[in-house]
Amino acid sequence: MTYAKDALIFDKSVQGRRGVRYPKRNFNWEFTAPEGLAPESAPFIPEVSHLDVVRHYTRLSLRTFGVDTGFYPLGSCTMKYNPRLCDKAAGFDGFAGVHPSQPLITADGIVELLAETSEWMCETTGMESFALQPAAGAQGEFAGMLTFRKYFDHIGESEREIMIVPDSAHGTNPASAAVAGFNVVEVKSTDEGLTDPSAIEAVINKYGAEKIAGIMLTNPNTLGLYESHICEIADMLHKIGALLYYDGANLNALLGIVRPGDMGFDLLHLNTHKTFSTPHGGGGPGAGPIGVKEKLAPFLPGAVFCVKNGKPEVVWPEHSIGRMKAWWGNFLVLVRTYAYFVHIGARGLRRVAENAVINANYIQEGIKDAFEIPYYARCMHEFVASAEHFKREYGVTAKDVDKKLLEKGIHAPTTYFPLIVHEALMIEPTDTESKETLDHFIEVMKGLAEAIKSDPEKFKKPDANLLQVVNPDETAAARNFIPRWYPEDGRQG
Ligand SMILES: Cc1ncc(COP(=O)(O)O)c(C=O)c1O
Repeated sequence: MTYAKDALIFDKSVQGRRGVRYPKRNFNWEFTAPEGLAPESAPFIPEVSHLDVVRHYTRLSLRTFGVDTGFYPLGSCTMKYNPRLCDKAAGFDGFAGVHPSQPLITADGIVELLAETSEWMCETTGMESFALQPAAGAQGEFAGMLTFRKYFDHIGESEREIMIVPDSAHGTNPASAAVAGFNVVEVKSTDEGLTDPSAIEAVINKYGAEKIAGIMLTNPNTLGLYESHICEIADMLHKIGALLYYDGANLNALLGIVRPGDMGFDLLHLNTHKTFSTPHGGGGPGAGPIGVKEKLAPFLPGAVFCVKNGKPEVVWPEHSIGRMKAWWGNFLVLVRTYAYFVHIGARGLRRVAENAVINANYIQEGIKDAFEIPYYARCMHEFVASAEHFKREYGVTAKDVDKKLLEKGIHAPTTYFPLIVHEALMIEPTDTESKETLDHFIEVMKGLAEAIKSDPEKFKKPDANLLQVVNPDETAAARNFIPRWYPEDGRQG
């Protein structure tokens, strides 16, 4: 029997074939399922040999593209360097084997680790207290918004309902604010791609200072540009009693150089899976701890770990917004964060930021004659190129460019985000890539630009031999979602 290229493990099933055979034992008990719960027939489980199953799943694993496979210039979104050392630490029995409901008195090493991790985070960001529970950036944002809400209610300013969000923000920002009950008002960025203090002033004048709850800002913003008006914006909002939220997804550009707390932010979330070397595969698990200035500390979610008089302690905030997640959050992700802090140290953190910025600028300079860069300036850790001119002149889109990059063994940049750049290709190399890899990427991008101009029709046709999936119809897949397949007869539904 030969298998088709895409044969499923079910197709490979041969009756009676086994991977492992256990020695027969004579048990003197028999299990009978309670009435009504017994299945009518045995489940259809593939019967395959050990080698077949290993090869099947190894082959599938090779069909994916990840940070361990090749260059991954995906802007924002995810960490590209996850040292095996951090994984190893997370695998230690004392961490991996601990039960979340174990009394803390029997797990003082864990309390110490979480307290020290919180201290590192405070020191790095200029905040005074951290809650480690949120499980991702977006959940951190939501927790932050609930914290703002509870604070305003507590001080008798419940009428503050307007949350200002720049048009360059990540989509989770307005979503988190809206779900927490704020009315989101978007402000347009300047022609240079920065948040415009005069646009914020206009919102304050329009709605009234007493209605403004705050602003959510990302710095560097999603165009990879440093928000140079940040101190002016902070003064303007603090003067009217509003608060500043910092989306920490891009903190890797600033580590050890400047701290959000010193810029005037009152609360922030960190994406550990973006800045502190924890993996974020397939949407999780990550960690999105939130840090606050002192006046917001009583409202934090869950337990707060800190060091008091040289001793690790657990504190339950007095007016907490409640739990965001069970127990202590994604604990093993936080172990990786701790291991990363200890492993690279304070100087290492600064080098991360410096190299991330140098590498992004190096690529930007390398490809700027091949691709348009609508907000071209000295960038921070990432920048946003555009394929709009190729679409206009040759009908070649950013997605076509992505497909060709994948054919060349390079992951696609973040595409079609931020929304203010048409046909956006957001490129972030991060600090850990070698000059050879950066040079290779630049050469490939220049080559793609030439290939588009010389034969756009050929460019638009993906090479089916090089790509595993060619031209999927994403819209049809979302609208006609088929989550289930029945192995017995191949039915779908
Ligand atoms: C700027 C920005 N904010 C927020 C988020 C949300 O983080 P998460 O994916 O962990 O929910 C991201 C992630 O891509 C981001 O890039």
